[in-house]
Amino acid sequence: MKNVDITTSINGLKLKSCIMNASGALCSTKDELYNLLYSSSGAIVTKSCTKNIRIGNSLPRYYEFDIGSINSMGLPNFGIDFYLNFSTNKEIKKNKPIFLSISGLSLKENFFLIKKANLYSNISALELNLSCPNIIGKEEDELIYNYESLYKFLEKTFKYNKKPLGIKLPPFFRKKDIKNISLILNKFPISFITCINSIPNGICVDSYKESTVIQPNNGLGGIGGTIIKPFALSNIWQFNTFLRKDISIIGCGGIISGKDIFDHILCGASAVQIGTQLIKEGVSVFNRLHKELISFLKKKNYLSIDNFKGKLKTIYN
Ligand SMILES: Cc1cc2nc3c(=O)[nH]c(=O)nc-3n(C[C@H](O)[C@H](O)[C@H](O)COP(=O)(O)O)c2cc1C
Repeated sequence: MKNVDITTSINGLKLKSCIMNASGALCSTKDELYNLLYSSSGAIVTKSCTKNIRIGNSLPRYYEFDIGSINSMGLPNFGIDFYLNFSTNKEIKKNKPIFLSISGLSLKENFFLIKKANLYSNISALELNLSCPNIIGKEEDELIYNYESLYKFLEKTFKYNKKPLGIKLPPFFRKKDIKNISLILNKFPISFITCINSIPNGICVDSYKESTVIQPNNGLGGIGGTIIKPFALSNIWQFNTFLRKDISIIGCGGIISGKDIFDHILCGASAVQIGTQLIKEGVSVFNRLHKELISFLKKKNYLSIDNFKGKLKTIYN
């Protein structure tokens, strides 16, 4: 049998593997970034960065349970200069694309970060995190929920951004929201969307201690892992219907096996990101998922991801 090919392209940007890390999962420190560089992932996504260093929310702020995770990290990161400096390493260009995740705390800060990242040639793409659910005091200001501001923001961004730029989206639960956001995104030269970010404002309880399991925000946090996969799939599938065809979709949410990756691609993803499971398992997860995906595709007689991407069937009476 011929070799199975799991290379992909995100709006023209070539990746040797369709599997990469999700922002925030083992991609904050120098050691973590080098581990990703030498792992079998198809790309490196950095921790979402801000202009200045942030220590983030108080501990405990991350907790794992059998079918997922809850976190309220508060964007701890070393500031944009740290991630831009990492990108100048010569090994990166030879090795794999680097996606700089940006999460400014204001519109002004986002413009500053995008402008600065444009000066660095090794940054292959920008992933704008417009969906961070864990910035205390900023919950109501999220740009993504205000269509007029989002339009104006993108209009200004594309006046000077020359890099491939994608947007990390929160999960949407109403079809009309996905349709409306797509109508806006379709008006701009967006390269890709990544969906979904953690599902905000979950709560996990320690029944023995009769307490929340994380400290910030009275225990409320973003939920990731297996439990969120159906929502990730539904967002990917619906955006795949409404978005311009040249906008790629990166699927994220609930991937723990090669079959989960297959499902994301079947719904329309061109590549996938691994969050909670990468934190649980470390970078060896990429080898395991790579093997599992290839063996599943072999069973199905698919030779590349284009054979089944976006081809989910629905059931008619
Ligand atoms: C500890 C932790 C930190 C995260 N930090 C970020 C971040 O900085 N930027 C971002 O866009 N998403 C962040 N996320 C969300 C993940 O990138 C991902 O969207 C989410 O966890 C769903 O994927 P999963 O089900 O594979 O965990 C974080 C998630 C976790 C668990």
